[in-house]
Amino acid sequence: MTEGLYARDGQAIANLQKLRFFPLAIAGGHGARLMEEDGRELIDLSGAWGAASLGYGHPALVEAVSRAVANPAGASVLSAANAPATALAEKLLGLFPGEGRNKVWFGHSGSDANEAVFRAIAKATGRTGVISFVGAYHGCTTGSMAFSGHSVQAGATKAEGLILLPFPDPYRPYQGDASGDAILDLLKQQFATTAPPEKIGCAFIEPIQSDGGLIVPPKGFFQKFADLCRQHGILVVCDEVKVGLGRSGKMHCFEHEDFVPDILTIGKGLGGGLPLSAAIGAAEILDCATAFAMQTLHGNPVSTAAGLAVLETIEREGLAQAAERKGERLREGLRQLAGRHALIGDVRGRGLATGVELIADSGSREPASRETAKLIYRAYELGLVLYYVGMNSNVLEMTPPLTISDTEIDQALDILDRAFGDVRAGRVSDAALADFAGW
Ligand SMILES: Cc1ncc(COP(=O)(O)O)c(C=O)c1O
Repeated sequence: MTEGLYARDGQAIANLQKLRFFPLAIAGGHGARLMEEDGRELIDLSGAWGAASLGYGHPALVEAVSRAVANPAGASVLSAANAPATALAEKLLGLFPGEGRNKVWFGHSGSDANEAVFRAIAKATGRTGVISFVGAYHGCTTGSMAFSGHSVQAGATKAEGLILLPFPDPYRPYQGDASGDAILDLLKQQFATTAPPEKIGCAFIEPIQSDGGLIVPPKGFFQKFADLCRQHGILVVCDEVKVGLGRSGKMHCFEHEDFVPDILTIGKGLGGGLPLSAAIGAAEILDCATAFAMQTLHGNPVSTAAGLAVLETIEREGLAQAAERKGERLREGLRQLAGRHALIGDVRGRGLATGVELIADSGSREPASRETAKLIYRAYELGLVLYYVGMNSNVLEMTPPLTISDTEIDQALDILDRAFGDVRAGRVSDAALADFAGW
């Protein structure tokens, strides 16, 4: 008998890049469904951590990628213009409401986009300090980890002069202040004492904090935060790698907050499953040097052709508006489950970015980390893929393909209902989790 895919992967592929929760081994996919080797289908409520924006095998993506790979316009933008990259850059500029002259930079991942922007701002302004938030995940390169605040990277070297602020979390508010104003006061205090603002070049924000726990900030917080930064000439970089491009119910998630960042970074869903990221914003930053933030395949014509197909499909199929409606359907179903399952402490989100925080006790809100790991393990056994995020490893994250159907949402809810019941009844053993470190 030949060895199964999961076992072969275990022998051949390094653990350094694994974040495993259950023995998922994928042979193919279509729509919002993944298929295992034996033909079993699972609904993908993670959407490959948000990368599968159009689901799997969308005809528009298949067509665009097939065409681009059959007649490739070189391999990158480093030493030549290429048609797909230019067309995608023009499209992205048309979608970005920023005032002034903007440009686009292309990368492969959220990590390289955030790192390139951070380096470019330091180079252009001479200001190397940076503000970010506890729980922020901006990437897994040395540069992007340096201004991230997620516990999984606790050992990483941090940028000199990094200010990590508490993220405004309405469920676990800093100093009991759900408006987030206490965080702004803290920043003002730091400006006045330990952190002179003229040394700070930029602030990285996530309009919904993703890997830190799918936390939706209180309305208006980021507008006030951006105003404060701008009073001191600090540029605001909005990292929408996970929640941008229609997922939140609007094309850009910052549009919910009534402010426009100086630079926007996007990735994941932009490539629809292919490696692609971008930074869009102030030309005086993104044009500040040549041969400064480049990799051989940046602006790859196949990836950028995919990116253009993704954006055109989001617009043509009205996927942002649909995300708003479908997300409400999902959260309404989850709120009903909360009435039956005491583990559910909070249901939150925007559009098709939803978080469900699991707690052991409604009084203390103590995080139910172990039960969260068991819940997704059981959901996988029952035919549903989703993962958890959060500094306490206790938030279910749901970022399905924007193309997921109402029926699939309802099926996912049924599976979750059963999985919660099974975890409560002790049907998932600790031993089942032994091989899966999670995060
Ligand atoms: C908000 C955010 N920024 C950046 C990244 C890093 O993106 P990538 O893993 O593509 O490098 C992630 C990944 O989870 C993310 O959620």
